[in-house]
Amino acid sequence: MSEFQAYFTNDGSVGLYSKDYDDIYHSASGALTEAYEKFVCPVNWDNLLKYDDIKVLDICYGIGYNTKSFLNYIFENKKKLLKIKNEIKKIFFIDENIDTIHTDNNYSLNNRNNIDKIYTNNIFNNISVTALDNDEILTGLSPFIKTGVKNFKKNHELIDKLKLNKYFSDKPVINYKINNSINYEILSQLLEKNPQILNNDDLLKVLSDKSNSSYFIAHLKNLFLSMHKNTFKNINLLNLHNIYYRYLTNCYKRELKGAYIENIDFNVKINDARLSVKEDKNIYNLIFLDAFTHSKCPCLWSYDFFKELYNHLSEDGMLLTYSSAAQIRSAMIAAGFAVGKIFNTRLNKFQGTVAVKNIDLIKHPLSESDLGLLKTKAGIFYRDRNLSSQNEAIIMAHKTEVENSNLMSSSMYLKTRRKNVL
Ligand SMILES: C[S@@+](CC[C@H](N)C(=O)[O-])C[C@H]1O[C@@H](n2cnc3c(N)ncnc32)[C@H](O)[C@@H]1O
Repeated sequence: MSEFQAYFTNDGSVGLYSKDYDDIYHSASGALTEAYEKFVCPVNWDNLLKYDDIKVLDICYGIGYNTKSFLNYIFENKKKLLKIKNEIKKIFFIDENIDTIHTDNNYSLNNRNNIDKIYTNNIFNNISVTALDNDEILTGLSPFIKTGVKNFKKNHELIDKLKLNKYFSDKPVINYKINNSINYEILSQLLEKNPQILNNDDLLKVLSDKSNSSYFIAHLKNLFLSMHKNTFKNINLLNLHNIYYRYLTNCYKRELKGAYIENIDFNVKINDARLSVKEDKNIYNLIFLDAFTHSKCPCLWSYDFFKELYNHLSEDGMLLTYSSAAQIRSAMIAAGFAVGKIFNTRLNKFQGTVAVKNIDLIKHPLSESDLGLLKTKAGIFYRDRNLSSQNEAIIMAHKTEVENSNLMSSSMYLKTRRKNVL
């Protein structure tokens, strides 16, 4: 288990700091805001809604903000998304209850019962999410994490140590929350498919630790802990399932009413993401890549890993990442992707990268200056030929390649460019 410490980020969602990596898992200015802005807002919904079944690959799932934000966006924007889907599919749309879409343009309230349903209330018939991470504790914690907490207490000791103070305004900016039904669904599938999680002592320790309690959704945590007690000796799938639903029906019926999410197939693979991807046979409509920064975790940013991801992306799929580094973009291009930028409307600036096979999906192409940088030393990418090297070895080999390269440095390039532009 990687040692971590929790704190509230400025949007009232929990952020983690990894002691092992000496890195933060989430942006201190808002963990959930970051997930929405980098992995949900840039999705080309017009394109995605053409499909009834979609597959999403969440690399570096952690505590799951990206997947949860994606599912939550669909859940909360049903009306809007159904409207787009209707326009794309040229299906006549009645929006009162959003429970049926009809093809009959003469539809009226009086003859509603005579019309065949062609869609249910689902925007997608099936959303399959494959979540990859090598830390079982974090994955296990994901359904319990709080979002949108107002008036949270800052963990000063940690925040000062990490110099995060500049990100905290007096009033937290809370734009996003995760509907609890998303957490229920994830917990339910997590336990069904990975029942061993219930017996993970480290996870239980974190969840039972009183000093962590402000970070977790209390009733979900209690549900989990009571399930643990009940199933500890004799754990099997059916047992788990029954207990889970007994608790749901007895205690949480009201909350779940009308909020049940259908047709989500959530699968977690706890392993080095390179291995998980190599073994995986699926083709994805969306790939989220949220690894630690490339200088800390180069194995998930190498040219060879991007080549593997290229083979797992559909022809009009999108790979989204927060990184804008020149070497990440050049690795993507060398692996066969077309690459563009992500525009953050709130901050009015470009942040992150989108990689696609179909260039028409790129809304914001790289500028001349971005492209120029790729041809400097800053554009030299990491290599990991067998997808099995240690991070330290990848960094060493990269360092040597940069030192031996005759390419211009990025600072020299930018200086020359500025001179030429003036
Ligand atoms: C920046 S955090 C991701 C945050 C996450 N998306 C979330 O919503 O919490 C990076 C994640 O990468 C995971 N990780 C690091 N190296 C990995 C590897 N080789 N394979 C799979 N996951 C890895 C860590 O456990 C951590 O959860």
